[in-house]
Amino acid sequence: MRRRTFLGAAGAAAVALALSGAALAQEAVKIGLILPMTGPFASTGRQIEAAAKLYMQQQGDTVAGRKIQLILKDDTGVADVTKRLAQELIVNDKIAVMAGFGLTPLALAPAPLATQAKVPQVVMAAATATITEASPFIVRTSFTLPQATVPMAEWAAENGIKKVVTLVSDYGPGIDAEKAFTGAFTAKGGQVENLRVPLANPDFSPFLQKVADAKPDALFVFVPSGIGAQFMKQFVERGLDKSGIKLIGPGDVTDDDILNGMGDVALGAITTQHYSAAHDSPENKAFVEAFKKANPNMRPNFMAVGGYDGMHLIYEGLKKTGGQGGQALIDAMKGMSWTSPRGPVSIDPQTRDIIQNIYVRKVERRDGELYNVEFATIPNVKDPVKAAKFN
Ligand code: PHB
Repeated sequence: MRRRTFLGAAGAAAVALALSGAALAQEAVKIGLILPMTGPFASTGRQIEAAAKLYMQQQGDTVAGRKIQLILKDDTGVADVTKRLAQELIVNDKIAVMAGFGLTPLALAPAPLATQAKVPQVVMAAATATITEASPFIVRTSFTLPQATVPMAEWAAENGIKKVVTLVSDYGPGIDAEKAFTGAFTAKGGQVENLRVPLANPDFSPFLQKVADAKPDALFVFVPSGIGAQFMKQFVERGLDKSGIKLIGPGDVTDDDILNGMGDVALGAITTQHYSAAHDSPENKAFVEAFKKANPNMRPNFMAVGGYDGMHLIYEGLKKTGGQGGQALIDAMKGMSWTSPRGPVSIDPQTRDIIQNIYVRKVERRDGELYNVEFATIPNVKDPVKAAKFN
């Protein structure tokens, strides 16, 4: 009886030990993906979710012997909700890394939590230059507005454009775009007038009337991804498509998600950006084809590529740390380089921002569909705002 009890206890202890060992080895590495899946910026959430899932489907859900679990949360585009969800994911789900962040305020809200909890925060969408300075645990796979915009100013100045009106959404990335364009364009002798339109429910018509009256050579526009179609509709309604005023800007306004639905009004728009679904490389052809196969009726846009590359950065970082998160993971991500569907990219170890090519593109019809067709490349562009601070 005593012998049996003893063996039983030892056996139970051994089983418990084996179980906890197995449980440890198998404990999933959790990624909290926080995105606007509803509300006016839901297209960003949809694009990034689709791209992240595609990456996992292609690369498998095991990294460094650990299962990867993606936990998707909808912040509805409200910063307080993003922050609460990040808190819950960190405390209750014990995530190793948080990712997504569809707009600047949504990326800034959880930054103090990333710092406190030492949880890397991979910004896949938001693009105000200063975001990476909000926490040493933030790393970004999207872009910054100044990075995409300075090449636009230089192209405009070199191509006979002398007078420009800028029209931007009145918040972080819009103000970044306005400042970057105005600074670089006036430095080359150009003349600029600045207009700002509210971010929420924008009515562009009074601003477009001012543009029509000012008769500039070009109208420079920044609106966040998903809003371009609304802008184009009012551009036509005000007759600006027939005014001879050229449409230019960073590529958010002719976003691949909605470009094909804009119609001929978009033809000829010149934009500068890091990604076009028409980018001519084997990596991009494979990406676009797989994305469309997995998501019929969708074309990947620059948000999708930010999500896809963000997952790549997380996977490669976890491979280096053997599945560990925290400081080790953010350190592993610094300096990483790879070939993205957008072209060659790397993570600046100093700023944790992405260094990438910026392409000059023109909207053209190809095989019956509208695309941003790249015709010039500015290689390895850093965010100019932070480059100026560090050099
Ligand atoms: C941002 O809020 O940072 C943002 C959102 C959409 C864009 C660009 C920037 O297309």
